[in-house]
Amino acid sequence: MARNYFIAGNWKMHKTRAEAAALAKELVAALKDGGHKYLVAPSFTALETVAALVKGTNILLGAQNCAVEEEGAHTGEVSALQLKDLDVQTVILGHSERRHLYKEDDELVNRKVHIALKHGLDVILCVGELLEEREAGKAEAVCRRQTVEGLKGVSAADLSRVTIAYEPVWAIGTGKTATPEDADAVHAYIRGVVGELYGQAAAENLVIQYGGSVKPENAAALMAKENIDGALVGGASLKAATFVPIAKF
Ligand code: PGA
Repeated sequence: MARNYFIAGNWKMHKTRAEAAALAKELVAALKDGGHKYLVAPSFTALETVAALVKGTNILLGAQNCAVEEEGAHTGEVSALQLKDLDVQTVILGHSERRHLYKEDDELVNRKVHIALKHGLDVILCVGELLEEREAGKAEAVCRRQTVEGLKGVSAADLSRVTIAYEPVWAIGTGKTATPEDADAVHAYIRGVVGELYGQAAAENLVIQYGGSVKPENAAALMAKENIDGALVGGASLKAATFVPIAKF
């Protein structure tokens, strides 16, 4: 497989600066001989602290969200420009917690994708169906819509700076993981959708991460699948003891 594995930790709303620094130091030491692409996404408040620690290492710095506007009267928001200023390289957009808890729709996510790419940030675009959508046989349709709408207007050149994370919402933080076969089937489907939009070669190069209760025990079986090119890890990314074995699966 020509694609490089990309393992990312989404720390969500966890960790003080001191706690984030302690984990970042452990990861820098433990992953320096790791063979894959790595990223950690701390809270905004810990970005500057972690940026100083991962600079010059093989761990990229990610943010978990960004504002849809460049600047202005947007109380509580953080812009792509401000993230760039902190040496952030990548931003996670459309995470299911943003979509479902904070009501971000496809159009808003798409606008954020554009603003991030415009300012030189790479993007991890999250897609994934709810349990009721899966049970109603709509998993593929939901992933198609979120992929097509999320990428609307993104050029073929910019697509090379986009990773897609397939995160079935029913598997996030629940301990339930999609089976490697079920996840791979959806990944293949998403790759096909991207192929329709951008052609076969672009689809082949697209990195598609799986997210949803990835653990040291299931990482290798997921990564062994043809269309699974990495992981977006939540809970298990909060400790080196669980993230490192995933990162070095
Ligand atoms: P989880 O979260 O690994 O805790 O299920 C994954 C995610 O939300 O990115």
